[in-house]
Amino acid sequence: MNYNKKTVKDVEVKGKKVLLRCDFNVPMAKDGSGVITDDKRIRAALPTIQYLLDQGAAVVACSHMGKPKGEIKPELSLKPVAARLSELLGKDVIMADDVVGPDAQAKAAALQPGQILLLENTRFEKGETKNDPELAKAMASMAELYVSDAFGAVHRAHASTAGVAEYLPAVSGFLIQKELEVIGGALANPKRPLVAILGGSKVSSKIGVINNLLEIADTIIIGGGMAYTFSAAKGGKVGDSLLEADWQDYANEMVDKAAQKGVKLLLPVDTVIADAFAPDAKSQVVKNGEIPDGWQGLDIGPETVKLYCDAVKDAGTVIWNGPMGVFEFPAFAKGTEAVAKALSETSAITIIGGGDSAAAVQQLGYADKMTHISTGGGASLEFMEGKELPGVACLLDK
Ligand code: 3PG
Repeated sequence: MNYNKKTVKDVEVKGKKVLLRCDFNVPMAKDGSGVITDDKRIRAALPTIQYLLDQGAAVVACSHMGKPKGEIKPELSLKPVAARLSELLGKDVIMADDVVGPDAQAKAAALQPGQILLLENTRFEKGETKNDPELAKAMASMAELYVSDAFGAVHRAHASTAGVAEYLPAVSGFLIQKELEVIGGALANPKRPLVAILGGSKVSSKIGVINNLLEIADTIIIGGGMAYTFSAAKGGKVGDSLLEADWQDYANEMVDKAAQKGVKLLLPVDTVIADAFAPDAKSQVVKNGEIPDGWQGLDIGPETVKLYCDAVKDAGTVIWNGPMGVFEFPAFAKGTEAVAKALSETSAITIIGGGDSAAAVQQLGYADKMTHISTGGGASLEFMEGKELPGVACLLDK
């Protein structure tokens, strides 16, 4: 896939109406109060929005939020996002009551250069996730140029992420440009050695990434719950740990493939086990593959921490996706924390995939020490799998 896409700087935006797709799918307080608990994704869109407004464009912004499945769900309205965006920009953000209905159309038509309008949650429209051409056409009719800055949603071929590009010239904003440059650069032409740290609970959700990175990386480090499937596949005892029995053959295949390709594949040598999945569970350290029944592995052990941190020290590039243990419980966060610390101290380019690893780095206070923390969860994963991203493929090549 060609990542060299035209950006807002390559086209004339002055005096134009611009449909700007953002990923404003931000976490909200569970109590229905409309409080945004993390506004990182709104902040990440600011450089593009500010640039467009400063250049004299009229910005028709849009985004999805949650999964309302074509129904209007007030708790998934983008109104709180409009309010926060307005605070961050220090200017009024006009909110539309619908996506392509009469209110949106009228407000878009009246929009002046330097003004910004936010459409309602694109997924309130049934056609959004089906990439319905009629919906895409209706959205496109409100603008003269399409700018996508919704990196978190580029793996979705939806009406607002890809379909609209059939009807408008389409370019990227600064956020997508940066994500493509940093992640794409690390995959295509990494500063070596390239070390990939893969964690998280399931082998099944990381197959594509492991497969693709076996072609690219010099070292692959496996941690988190999925390590127990690798351990069981080698005949280890995993007690009550997470295990995907159906994926054991696959795990062995990956180990063999790594050996054939000369990729160093590091697996845990010891593990912190607990007598329950609870923050205050009784715990002890055992050798990998020696977990008694009634116990489950919740973190990598101290020997493994040392092994993994050493592997990161002399890396040229480190890509990290997925925590090493149940970092939400302080007693089982040591492995994830040690890896985050090692990344913060290495001179390597450090790239954190979105989702859980991004949350872990943030929670542990190392966010500002990383080269890049992706704003995409599923999107960064699919990018690292080497898959084509529809929301990028639809943009004009440079
Ligand atoms: C995300 O949160 O990863 C993006 O906003 C995409 O959301 P989705 O998984 O609901 O498409």
